[in-house]
Amino acid sequence: LNLCVLPEAESTNTLLREKANAGAPEGTVILANTQTKGRGRRGRSFYSPADTGLYLSILLRPDGMTPDQAVKITTMAAVAVCEAVEEISGKETWIKWVNDIYQEGRKISGILTEASVSMENGSVESVILGIGINVYPPESGFPEDIRETAGSVFDGKQNDGKNRLAAGVLNYFFKEYERIDRTDYVEKYRAKSFVVGKEITILSPSGNRQATALDVDQDCHLIVRYENGQTERLSSGEISIRL
Ligand code: BTN
Repeated sequence: LNLCVLPEAESTNTLLREKANAGAPEGTVILANTQTKGRGRRGRSFYSPADTGLYLSILLRPDGMTPDQAVKITTMAAVAVCEAVEEISGKETWIKWVNDIYQEGRKISGILTEASVSMENGSVESVILGIGINVYPPESGFPEDIRETAGSVFDGKQNDGKNRLAAGVLNYFFKEYERIDRTDYVEKYRAKSFVVGKEITILSPSGNRQATALDVDQDCHLIVRYENGQTERLSSGEISIRL
């Protein structure tokens, strides 16, 4: 690994994308103590206060991968985060499809995967895998809009919690990535998915739809059944669980 630790970055994903475009090799990792413009999925920001969270990005250059296979990387990362967090905290974690990690009913981690695709042959040239984990409670609490939903791995500061978590996530992730052709991580992903069997709302710009989540399949797509009985296989998107 080519690990770069910074006191601050706008966004480790943005910075690593620049390095990737300038030819940085696979395995380049940027870790920042705080982000001034941390990014989440769907154009949202990711709250990234200093000292209390882990913000890291990993550059990957998978061989001959098509864009729709890139979801594998996110899935593996979600499993790696669960394994590392459980090992360090001793508390169970759950995945909300696609890639939000929950502990005790609160979101403790999010993943933002950004691929760049070759114009020549349509294959994935590089992937920036960005992982954010709330390790300790932020000093002034979470911002209002996520106060009810966000949580952190530990209740209070531990000396080495953040470092051990960073090492754990990287170790677990690369262990899976080295054998990307195997699919046993899918079983782990399914076992951790808490949406199966739940009533969900699928959020989309063209209108929300109510459905039941039936299963997560071998490609980590979500199988849903709408109220009219029609079923669909979703490869990505945003859902909320109806309680
Ligand atoms: C989400 O929950 O919507 C995804 C959040 C991803 C946050 C991480 S923190 C490290 C990396 N850099 C970013 O700007 N975002 C990702």
